[in-house]
Amino acid sequence: MMVSHGLFWTLWMVACFEQCLGQDLQFPELNNGAVGGSVKFTPNNPPSTAINQFTWQFETILILTGKPDSPTVSSEYQDRVFLDKNTLALELWNLTFRDSGSYNLSVNTVNGDEIREQTSLQVYEIISDVTLTGPQETLIEDESSANITSKGSGNITSVQWMKDNSPLSSSSRIIFSSDNRSVYISPVERSDTGELQCTYSNPVSSETAKHTLIINYGPDGVSIEGPNVVDLGVQIFLSCSANSEPSASFSWTFNGSDTGVTTDKYTIDKTDFNNSGEYICTAFNRVTNRRELKTHALLVQAGGGGLSGGAIAGIVIGVLVAVSGICGLIVYLTKTNKIPKLKSEAQRSEAPAKSKEKTDLTYVNIPGHQMTRGGETAQGKGGDSAIYMNMKTDPNSKEDEYVNVKHGVPSSQR
Ligand SMILES: *[C@@H]1O[C@H](CO)[C@@H](O)[C@H](O)[C@H]1NC(C)=O
Ligand SMILES: *[C@@H]1O[C@H](CO)[C@@H](O)[C@H](O)[C@H]1NC(C)=O
Ligand SMILES: *[C@@H]1O[C@H](CO)[C@@H](O)[C@H](O)[C@H]1NC(C)=O
Ligand SMILES: *[C@@H]1O[C@H](CO)[C@@H](O)[C@H](O)[C@H]1NC(C)=O
Ligand SMILES: *[C@@H]1O[C@H](CO)[C@@H](O)[C@H](O)[C@H]1NC(C)=O
Ligand SMILES: *[C@@H]1O[C@H](CO)[C@@H](O)[C@H](O)[C@H]1NC(C)=O
Ligand SMILES: *[C@@H]1O[C@H](CO)[C@@H](O)[C@H](O)[C@H]1NC(C)=O
Repeated sequence: MMVSHGLFWTLWMVACFEQCLGQDLQFPELNNGAVGGSVKFTPNNPPSTAINQFTWQFETILILTGKPDSPTVSSEYQDRVFLDKNTLALELWNLTFRDSGSYNLSVNTVNGDEIREQTSLQVYEIISDVTLTGPQETLIEDESSANITSKGSGNITSVQWMKDNSPLSSSSRIIFSSDNRSVYISPVERSDTGELQCTYSNPVSSETAKHTLIINYGPDGVSIEGPNVVDLGVQIFLSCSANSEPSASFSWTFNGSDTGVTTDKYTIDKTDFNNSGEYICTAFNRVTNRRELKTHALLVQAGGGGLSGGAIAGIVIGVLVAVSGICGLIVYLTKTNKIPKLKSEAQRSEAPAKSKEKTDLTYVNIPGHQMTRGGETAQGKGGDSAIYMNMKTDPNSKEDEYVNVKHGVPSSQR
């Protein structure tokens, strides 16, 4: 057993000798250091064979040489190098730009073999004093442009922009300068509001500067929340809202006259019949100097005398039944050619324009009915007892057929 073990080791050592030495040392190809800082060149595989003599040199300049236990440091490197005698790792401090370059370690083993390994160092000045400068003036959506520029010192190898912690990418509106140190946004949009961050970095340091952008916009998307039909004698609120930066101010008119209300909420403590009419909320942004308004129709109806939920449901069902009956009737009349198709030249030329606006829609406008909404109320009231139906019977046909059916539908059948 002992004999075969010894033989194995001998064979292994012979077989391995060349390659194993070649695998010794192995430094990272590139090391980075900071001006004034330090670096340590550490071999990945410390030498496995006893060392007779070694030499560390920078380019062609000797740093230290000799036996690991008693190396000689050259005068230029006095007081700023340290050697780990077990691994031959070399530490170098008080780095300057002039230390950038290649470093060689050569080792002579007791077996008389020579191993040479090279590594290199790049020294960077630490990044400092990064600042961002943005526009001082007020920024207005779709009008203003913004140029945000960065400054900083040190060796800058990369410039990275983020907005609210996500990378900022260029677009038709967002353009980076060729060195990435400034970004030009034109025109600004509300989505540009947020914190811009610019990071300067190099392999040994990085620094981030921030700048907050506020884009003024709006008002738009003005809307009024509140009922259209209410009972007599109840309290109601109409709430107006708008997308706006800064927040919009509001004003209200009723039937065209100013109400003096300048809050987002219009309150009627106890509804009266004379509260029926048209309410307009105007939202105004003092910075963009823009305004937008929204109309809301309110109908106050007699409390108990009004339609109950059941009555409304009944009417809705009745209307649906009537509409389906009318549809069936129209189909019947059209198929049996009892209603002539409207095909005069004049109507033909009008039809496509109308159909563009109202394609595939069926409008059923039932006048005098209290379930009308918003601005339609007035028109609904003004109408007589006719039912207007605008139907597109054949999807391939460009001609709409307008059927005007009087309330006494069956009478036309007579
Ligand atoms: C050199 O580096 C050492 C240790 O990092 C530090 O204490 C010393 O002040 C430095 N000397 C100079 C001249 O920078
Ligand atoms: C450093 O070592 C590399 C190979 O390991 C060699 O090519 C180069 O000439 C050496 N440099 C010096 C200055 O000896
Ligand atoms: C933005 O500002 C930088 C620095 O002042 C300037 O170099 C650049 O030309 C400006 N970009 C635009 C589009 O004005
Ligand atoms: C860093 O900056 C200095 C001085 O500006 C320059 O001499 C040096 O080459 C730069 N180093 C790198 C790695 O860019
Ligand atoms: C500028 O930044 C973009 C993306 O962040 C990058 O692809 C490009 O290489 C950078 N250019 C320079 C000169 O740093
Ligand atoms: C409605 O009528 C009451 C009196 O019945 C009156 O006090 C109130 O000012 C009127 N409101 C409007 C909006 O005309
Ligand atoms: C407001 O206008 C509506 C619709 O035009 C009208 O019916 C109502 O009587 C008006 N109310 C007042 C108080 O002017």
